[in-house]
Amino acid sequence: MTFTSFFAGRQPHIHTAHALWKSAVEQGDMVIDATCGNGHDTLRLAQLVLTTHSGKVVALDIQEEAIKNTKKILEENLGKEIQRRIELHQRSHIEFPETVEKQTVKLIVYNLGYLPGGDKQVTTRVESTLKSLQNALNLLAPQGLITVTCYPGHPEGKREENAVLSWAAGLEAQKWRIVHQQWLNRLHSPSLLLLYKVIID
Ligand SMILES: C[S@@+](CC[C@H](N)C(=O)[O-])C[C@H]1O[C@@H](n2cnc3c(N)ncnc32)[C@H](O)[C@@H]1O
Repeated sequence: MTFTSFFAGRQPHIHTAHALWKSAVEQGDMVIDATCGNGHDTLRLAQLVLTTHSGKVVALDIQEEAIKNTKKILEENLGKEIQRRIELHQRSHIEFPETVEKQTVKLIVYNLGYLPGGDKQVTTRVESTLKSLQNALNLLAPQGLITVTCYPGHPEGKREENAVLSWAAGLEAQKWRIVHQQWLNRLHSPSLLLLYKVIID
């Protein structure tokens, strides 16, 4: 990513997210994709943290189609040994798998909304997203990061963005650094929320 291409493209939220993921994790880390969809984010996370003998990626989605699409993109791009280090779960992110221990996850990624190319009625919802985010706070390791991409261009997405931002604004400032990036002069453009867990001595 060059300086000019960051601004030339129409998706600065994606460029920022990817750059931050790269700085937030290292090989061997454990990460979660809370909404794996077509698997693009899961693949990128896998490329950042997995080796044949270390690292773990847990990816969740409620739709069978999303899990199938994610499996396919992973099979096409990763070796078998690496794929073994990825857990795919067809379930809601409202409850993370019990195998994920508290304070062990370096990065948790949410890409809200509906499955691109899928049923637009099946979308993330305010209530489950807020519960999931609250649970995610406990799973995150110190100096870990949560990124949430919001899509306010459709009514449920706007409601969800508002709810997530007001929830995040209420988190304790000594424990959390919270930043919201938005393209201000483009109406309804996607936005990116960052939640960084501070170490407390
Ligand atoms: C914008 S897409 C994700 C795109 C994906 N990250 C990618 O790289 O292709 C949002 C996804 O969230 C999923 N979703 C909706 N509600 C969910 C829930 N409660 N738990 C987990 N996934 C959910 C949808 O099925 C959809 O696939």
